[in-house]
Amino acid sequence: MKAIQYRTYGDSDVIEQVEVPIPTIQNEKDVLIQVKAAGVNPIDIKIRMGFMKTARPVEMPFTPGGEASGVIVAIGDNVSAFSVGDEVIALTKTNGYAEYVLLNENFVLLKPKSLSFKEAASIGVNIGTAQSVLFTAGKLEKGQKVLIQGGAGAAGGAMVQLAKAAGAYVIATASGSGVELAKSLGADQVIDYKSQDVAHIVDNVDLVADTAGGEAQEKLFQVLKPGGKLLSIVIPPSQQLAEQYKVEARFVASDISSRTLQNGIDLMAAGKFRPIVSKTFKLEEAALAQDFLAAGGVNGKVILLVD
Ligand SMILES: NC(=O)c1ccc[n+]([C@@H]2O[C@H](COP(=O)([O-])OP(=O)(O)OC[C@H]3O[C@@H](n4cnc5c(N)ncnc54)[C@H](OP(=O)(O)O)[C@@H]3O)[C@@H](O)[C@H]2O)c1
Repeated sequence: MKAIQYRTYGDSDVIEQVEVPIPTIQNEKDVLIQVKAAGVNPIDIKIRMGFMKTARPVEMPFTPGGEASGVIVAIGDNVSAFSVGDEVIALTKTNGYAEYVLLNENFVLLKPKSLSFKEAASIGVNIGTAQSVLFTAGKLEKGQKVLIQGGAGAAGGAMVQLAKAAGAYVIATASGSGVELAKSLGADQVIDYKSQDVAHIVDNVDLVADTAGGEAQEKLFQVLKPGGKLLSIVIPPSQQLAEQYKVEARFVASDISSRTLQNGIDLMAAGKFRPIVSKTFKLEEAALAQDFLAAGGVNGKVILLVD
């Protein structure tokens, strides 16, 4: 089968398409999935660049790809929830950039029928992350004010939709065409971060969800009410500023699981959540796809189509 590999760390020119054997069932709970689409996530790029050597060490050659969708083609003897032929979402963690992926059934969900394969490959990391930040860590409640930094991005767009559906007042930062996208996803207020200063416009926020990191994170302390929370999925926030502003501030690692996806899937069925696919590439264009994502200005998810 065709698979994408990094043979070493480096720029996107280390990305190769190789021929490797199709995985075979190893364990009684395994399912083998023929991949139709695979999500491209910033962590795939961070791993390739060697930025995750401590937090997320990998062995080379390495096949990236934390989420995919496809069709089950083989199952282990003790698989209870799935049959051959089922169309599924695969929460792969790695190995999604390939024609087939092997996975324990616990990391597989039936694909909602209303979703195409490319849409189904776009929601796992985004919804799981949004749910982890807003509700598991953020304890967001109806009527509270939430600011989503990067509200037209892949994770941020899911946060805007989940927060809105929960009855929060949703403020998003975005730029370019992302401003209209964030509005269309339900943000009550959108701040163009390239031309406006969020710290001068927004205050009294209960929860800030930071999906952008960088120096821009420091300003986010200023919009919080005392006792509020700043949760970042990118970099740990300053504890000195947290003390100064009397807020809780920390990094959140997302839980990408069928449990954290359920709320988003229910909202999709109710017409209150839509997957946003920004652009699709072919599997063999994985390097182009990662460069497109790394360049910024991407609204929604980048997807590799596999066939
Ligand atoms: N901790 C976890 O478990 C976890 C889970 C998922 C993702 N992540 C991380 O979260 C980050 C976002 O992931 P993603 O998939 O959502 O990426 P993405 O689609 O590229 O979204 C990033 C967003 O940040 C915006 N942004 C960039 N600079 C900004 C600034 N100065 N102010 C406000 N917004 C700014 C971008 O807007 P423009 O394009 O308009 O500049 C973009 O919409 C990545 O670093 C990823 O690795 C972590």
